Amino acid sequence: MIFEMGILSARKVGVLLALFWMGTLCYFWLPDHIPDFLDLRTKSTVRRRHDTLPRPHSFGHLSNLIRMDQRNVSNGHNSSDIVHVCITSDGNTLGGMIALINSIVTNTKHHVRFHLVTDEDSVDHLRAWIQTSSLRQIDYELKVFPDSWVSGKIKIRGGRQELGSPLNYARYYLPKLFPKLKEKIVFLDDDCIVQGDIMELYKTEIKKGHLGAFSEDCKGLNKRLSRLSNVYAEFLDFKNKHVQEKKIRPSACSFNTGLFVTDLGNWHKENITGQLEYWMELNTREEVYGNERGGGGSQPPMMLVFYNRISPIDSMWHVRYLGMLSQRCWTSGTSYSKAFIAQAKLLHWNGKFKPWGRVSQHRDVWDKYYITDPTGKFRPIRRV
Ligand SMILES: *[C@@H]1O[C@H](CO)[C@@H](O)[C@H](O)[C@H]1NC(C)=O
Ligand SMILES: *[C@@H]1O[C@H](CO)[C@@H](O)[C@H](O)[C@H]1NC(C)=O
Ligand SMILES: *[C@@H]1O[C@H](CO)[C@@H](O)[C@H](O)[C@H]1NC(C)=O
Repeated sequence: MIFEMGILSARKVGVLLALFWMGTLCYFWLPDHIPDFLDLRTKSTVRRRHDTLPRPHSFGHLSNLIRMDQRNVSNGHNSSDIVHVCITSDGNTLGGMIALINSIVTNTKHHVRFHLVTDEDSVDHLRAWIQTSSLRQIDYELKVFPDSWVSGKIKIRGGRQELGSPLNYARYYLPKLFPKLKEKIVFLDDDCIVQGDIMELYKTEIKKGHLGAFSEDCKGLNKRLSRLSNVYAEFLDFKNKHVQEKKIRPSACSFNTGLFVTDLGNWHKENITGQLEYWMELNTREEVYGNERGGGGSQPPMMLVFYNRISPIDSMWHVRYLGMLSQRCWTSGTSYSKAFIAQAKLLHWNGKFKPWGRVSQHRDVWDKYYITDPTGKFRPIRRV
């Protein structure tokens, strides 16, 4: 074929192929790696300087007032007026948990009870951080997640090894961590900021027969920004026969497991923890999760267990992909306007680029809620 076309055409084909290859590289690889490079180059110099974030005290005062209010409100009402919130975090992301808690209490007048989970090494650190800051008046309980519950059950193939952190799986064990809680609870990833009244999210309806409320990936504004195709096929290996037995439609809409509302009594009754453990453990022996780009980590087992049994969450209550910096080559990826970000009820920096890191978008919103670590161990990376 090439001989027939002659030497010149063969050269043209070669050039075209090279261009195609460069285009592909540009689309898939560069957006993820350029920021990494910047990150490496500047991390060491920036870390040493003192951060110049706004001091927490400016609005710490305001949140104290709100909290006094809150107490009176809750005294006058029954326990169905308490919002139960669970956040899990390890030492690397503890500052995320702090900023998130602060954002929740700043923006609600309702009584919130925080159920916090961290690792053995971070528990004293977290307690000190809360007790010495304007957060000292929050209503909270603090649990250490026993690594032994998941040891030997986590296997990350390729990609983002940080998804293998045991704390990432603590969400599977909510009734075991909080045996006295039988009611509804909101679970939030620690890379979120809440700008609305958390009570609104807490009241999300879970329909009869459903196991929880989640935000689907293929609906409305959440579809717009993702270059993933937002379906189950991206997260599971449909060649696995156990996956096939579930009779899941590969084109079914996926959902993000970083934020959900569920009922712990029902979770216990339906043995959801046992089912999640089953898939998790199976994945260490067989390939259950598909394309690792789709997430790996704690997401696929939840998609298997919750299939077809989820109620929707309002999309303004889960504005996400803020941690995926570049959606297209040659653009910086700040695809949401400032006005839209201001209207969002909840922002989620899912993806690699966290708001406390060197490269991230809309970090000014996160900085408003961050409270400086009194021990100095956690330090957002910022230019002076
Ligand atoms: C709030 O409750 C406290 C006691 O819990 C009480 O002393 C205070 O007067 C109350 N404030 C209002 C505005 O009701
Ligand atoms: C608690 O409040 C809910 C809704 O506000 C109400 O339906 C329920 O009857 C109340 N229960 C008690 C014991 O007051
Ligand atoms: C929970 O589910 C797992 C996995 O399907 C099963 O092995 C276990 O026996 C179940 N536990 C109960 C109490 O039903």
